Amino acid sequence: MRRNRSDLSDVALRQRILRNVSGLDTSTTLFGQKLSFPAALAPVGLTGMYARRGEVQAARAAARKAIPFTLSTVSVCPINEVQSQSSAPIWFQLYVLKDRGFMRDVLHRARDAGVTTLVFTVDMPTPGARYRDVHSGMSGPYAAARRLAQSVLHPKWAWDVGINGRPHDLGNISTYRGHPTGLEDYIGWLAQNFDPSISWKDLEWIRTFWKGPMLIKGILDPEDARDAVRFGADGIVVSNHGGRQLDGVLSSCHALPPIADAVKGEIALLADSGVRSGLDIARMIALGADAVLLGRAYIYALAADGQRGVEKLLDLMERELRVAMTLTGARSIREITSESLARTLGG
Ligand SMILES: Cc1cc2nc3c(=O)[nH]c(=O)nc-3n(C[C@H](O)[C@H](O)[C@H](O)COP(=O)(O)O)c2cc1C
Repeated sequence: MRRNRSDLSDVALRQRILRNVSGLDTSTTLFGQKLSFPAALAPVGLTGMYARRGEVQAARAAARKAIPFTLSTVSVCPINEVQSQSSAPIWFQLYVLKDRGFMRDVLHRARDAGVTTLVFTVDMPTPGARYRDVHSGMSGPYAAARRLAQSVLHPKWAWDVGINGRPHDLGNISTYRGHPTGLEDYIGWLAQNFDPSISWKDLEWIRTFWKGPMLIKGILDPEDARDAVRFGADGIVVSNHGGRQLDGVLSSCHALPPIADAVKGEIALLADSGVRSGLDIARMIALGADAVLLGRAYIYALAADGQRGVEKLLDLMERELRVAMTLTGARSIREITSESLARTLGG
């Protein structure tokens, strides 16, 4: 996680001057959809615990900026709730899980709800070693009691999310199972359901249920990116899951250029992990991405001020991207290329 941030902020851009950048345009098109700038909100589990019905608030903010919102498999709000309460183009993220009945069911529900794009996360055959979850009370000894104590110490959250943001369930899973599922259930269900036997064959199985655009998320190696092209994916997300899976892998921005050399132009190339500003978006695009996903950046904004916080963040990011484009002499997203990168000392 640290390396995602430090490697990305080390990327130096090449300032250019007197190049008439009037009429600058930050928009781009992905899978036939026009986005006001090249970003989408990443799938983040339990978003509804950061703000009241957090998935709906984030999706509304995304809609206002004409960028996609990605709903996690393990969201608090189910697909239908998010779809019926916002007008965002909704992407749905799916894990490969042992319970194939659930996968089939949720894909049908996604399609019926008008989800446009499937984001298939493949870097989670097992959850990473997440010691911070134990420290925070997300898991570990006395987790439920510790969370209760935290609620008492945070009365604003307790009222807004703890009481008025209920039900705190995993909406997509409880709809399938037909009964409510709490946080403990979430952890247990996840632990049982991640499937280490996952292979490209499982993606072929998914393809039979999903005819729309499909992105494969969690690629860090050019050979895997080539396999994704051979499989017929519509896009990939270069991602180390925000540093939450294998500690010690490459940062996404470091992994990106060789992957861009291998597949750029053949499929949509997205990247995430470490993006915190419009400047970071320009950096990822200069390194080869067509667009980025925002994870923690929007979650922090959502926790701070709900839909309004995410809208403010997205406005800021768009403005920062504009500044970066103006001062690197790029009039369109297409004009942000490897030529926009500065040579640094020793590089
Ligand atoms: C708290 C948290 C929960 C996440 N949950 C999911 C998830 O349910 N599905 C998924 O594909 N990725 C999940 N991710 C990974 C994000 O989609 C994204 O890859 C990552 O946050 C990008 O890094 P960043 O946070 O530095 O922007 C999660 C990330 C965080 C921080």
